[in-house]
Amino acid sequence: MPQSQLQKIREYWEEQARKYGTSQAASWADLLVNREIEVLARYLADQPEAVLDVGCANGHTSLELIRRCPIHLVGIDYASTMISYANAARELLQDGYKARVKFVEGDVLKLDFEDDRFDKVVSKRCITNLDTWELQQRAILEIRRVLRPGGFFLLSEPTVQGLERLNRLRSLFGLEPLQAPWHNLYLDEERLLALIEPHFSLVKVENFSSSYYVISRVIYPLLVGGKKERLRHDAWLNKVGVRMPSVGNFGVQKLFVMAKKG
Ligand SMILES: C[S@@+](CC[C@H](N)C(=O)[O-])C[C@H]1O[C@@H](n2cnc3c(N)ncnc32)[C@H](O)[C@@H]1O
Repeated sequence: MPQSQLQKIREYWEEQARKYGTSQAASWADLLVNREIEVLARYLADQPEAVLDVGCANGHTSLELIRRCPIHLVGIDYASTMISYANAARELLQDGYKARVKFVEGDVLKLDFEDDRFDKVVSKRCITNLDTWELQQRAILEIRRVLRPGGFFLLSEPTVQGLERLNRLRSLFGLEPLQAPWHNLYLDEERLLALIEPHFSLVKVENFSSSYYVISRVIYPLLVGGKKERLRHDAWLNKVGVRMPSVGNFGVQKLFVMAKKG
């Protein structure tokens, strides 16, 4: 029987884990991940809260958050190889950190936790791997279920509108439009905000990636003559770009910060 798109996506993530092990590259090698961790940590810094990281991959971000914030974190991912590597990385932690983190297999569509269990939920680039809006909605509402009333949902995802705005800017300079990867369905911001309205209070949309995308996806490609093969994600210009204050609304990746109503 031919594999469904969802099965192919799942197998893709198992393969990424086998290929890259405990490296950040297993999920996304982009420098932006470091900036994203800093922004997330601001929302987790001060309380010893219970945090769920949904779609944690090999635990790269979860372990950084554990080092920076006094939280207790459970990371879940449906790719068993990702979870094996997350646990291998956890084993290397000092005991004080190790006691505050664990990793288990799990699917965002059916979380194996009781209602209202977590103070905060982090989820980055996981829901974009669900190939229909119906499934994405289910995932968001399932996450809501395990969050306590007033608890924060920190959702960092690429959006359709973010990509459109970036591509409009690229086109002004003769650069071809970028496409979402085959395994991603970018979130539609309007649909997302309409969905969450009865369920969450929107606290903030963090456009944390705007300057970085302008530098790494417009200025840097222009400097190398638009030649894809000459682009390196860790080029010095991108390293500067990721430290720049974020200005404007050209970032593909956005962090939606919301609090559970009810
Ligand atoms: C792009 S990676 C992001 C990893 C990590 N959150 C980060 O930001 O570095 C997406 C991860 O989501 C996981 N994932 C995709 N669909 C999932 C699902 N239905 N349930 C749980 N994990 C899922 C994949 O296995 C993969 O590890």
